Amino acid sequence: MAIRDIIKPDNPILRKKAHKVTNFGSDFQKLADDMVETMIKAPGVGLAAPQVAVSQRLIVVRLPDDEESKKEYGDQAGVVYVLANPEIIKASKEMVEGVEACLSIPGYFGKVDRHESVTVRGQDRTGKEIRIKAKGWQARVFQHEIDHLDGRLYIDIASDVWREDEKDDADEETQPDTNAQQPTPSQD
Ligand code: NI
Repeated sequence: MAIRDIIKPDNPILRKKAHKVTNFGSDFQKLADDMVETMIKAPGVGLAAPQVAVSQRLIVVRLPDDEESKKEYGDQAGVVYVLANPEIIKASKEMVEGVEACLSIPGYFGKVDRHESVTVRGQDRTGKEIRIKAKGWQARVFQHEIDHLDGRLYIDIASDVWREDEKDDADEETQPDTNAQQPTPSQD
């Protein structure tokens, strides 16, 4: 396995619609392994292949499994998903606002509305079809990563974007409880 470089929006690959995965051979297996390693090292909770300059419809997702995260995410904490050709086939009407970040846009955060729960259909690393029902934070990560496969970034749909070092003071004074129930924003 190897750590791959994560590209930024100045690289046009990040804005392209990625290609369907059709070959689950050794190049694909290496890409999946590298992406998991790169995500964990970053550290992040999700990564899409275009972020490592590969225009393929592949995402990896892993919620952290430290003690706090285990309380928050239950049995989803620490589970690694490798999902090719993912599609959202069902989404809750209920939308929730949350704070997101992206490994391709370091140092920034944004407020984004996402479906509270989604059902994602895709293929596992052997090519077998699988379905994942995700809710809460995990559902958010899947939506964020699947957007990457269509060249969409969270900053395109965020209601507010700010620099990491900008908003702390203002937030404390004007809206102390807005994000109280949200976990610490994770890079994905
Ligand atoms: Ni991202």
